[in-house]
Amino acid sequence: MIKNAMTKVGLTLAVALVSIAPAAVASSGGALQHANTRPDNIASVQRGAKLFMNYCVGCHSLQFVRYSRLSEDLGLTEEQVMNNLNFTGAKFGDTIVSSMPAADAAVWFGKAPPDLSLEGRSKGPDWIYTYLKSFYVDHSRPLGWNNSLFPGASMPNVLWEMQGLQHAKMGHAKEGGDAHIEGLELVQPGTQTAQQFDETVRDLTSFLQYAAEPAALKRQKLGAWVVLYLAFFTFLAWLLKKEYWKDVH
Ligand code: HEC
Repeated sequence: MIKNAMTKVGLTLAVALVSIAPAAVASSGGALQHANTRPDNIASVQRGAKLFMNYCVGCHSLQFVRYSRLSEDLGLTEEQVMNNLNFTGAKFGDTIVSSMPAADAAVWFGKAPPDLSLEGRSKGPDWIYTYLKSFYVDHSRPLGWNNSLFPGASMPNVLWEMQGLQHAKMGHAKEGGDAHIEGLELVQPGTQTAQQFDETVRDLTSFLQYAAEPAALKRQKLGAWVVLYLAFFTFLAWLLKKEYWKDVH
């Protein structure tokens, strides 16, 4: 019964949320893949944090997240965070700031890498997941990379060693139009299989989702208790009702 009640409450909430959520991704081009992330799965978020600190923090900051907060939320000691997740020489209480000066970055990449604190909410998990998987080799671009979800992106494919190299398969140009990308194909395998790489990108995306809303981890835990609490009091009320009405026929 409790399980049913929870499913029902969950469904009602989901319907309510879907109907008020803005069409956040409606404007992006290519088809989005489902990220199936697990921002409430601490192990996945921990792996994502490690990947972020190894591959992304060189360019991107998370200016609203502190290292100490990672320790608190991800069940890591100060020592673990400082040894495994902090490579910029920041203090434990500092926010996660890229070591790259934004002005230099703007010159090198043509565009300063944006802060990703809120990316998990603004673009959403499916967009991030698809974006990170959609880089392909394009020698016409300054850094040799392009992205089929975000054409002309100035970010290089920093995960290419794991993913391998992708080329774009071009479809036939429609009359008067440009040739369009029909799909991406792996032309040189990386150190991971396609499935492993999906997991890698999923972990990274889970981490960015967590970073955009660190309180969500706590709220979800609390939510389950609230639902149980409500179910318990519904049960008490039902017992009481039975008690009141038992002599009335
Ligand atoms: C070498 C520098 C560099 C590294 C390393 C890097 N990025 Fe980027 N990233 C950029 C730049 C530059 C842009 C801006 C692209 C543009 O708008 O053309 C960007 C854009 C993005 C965006 C899109 C932001 C938006 O909404 O427009 C996401 C998401 C992103 N990066 C995620 C990552 C992740 C995750 C990693 C680590 C796996 C990473 N980046 C590593 C330089 C970098």
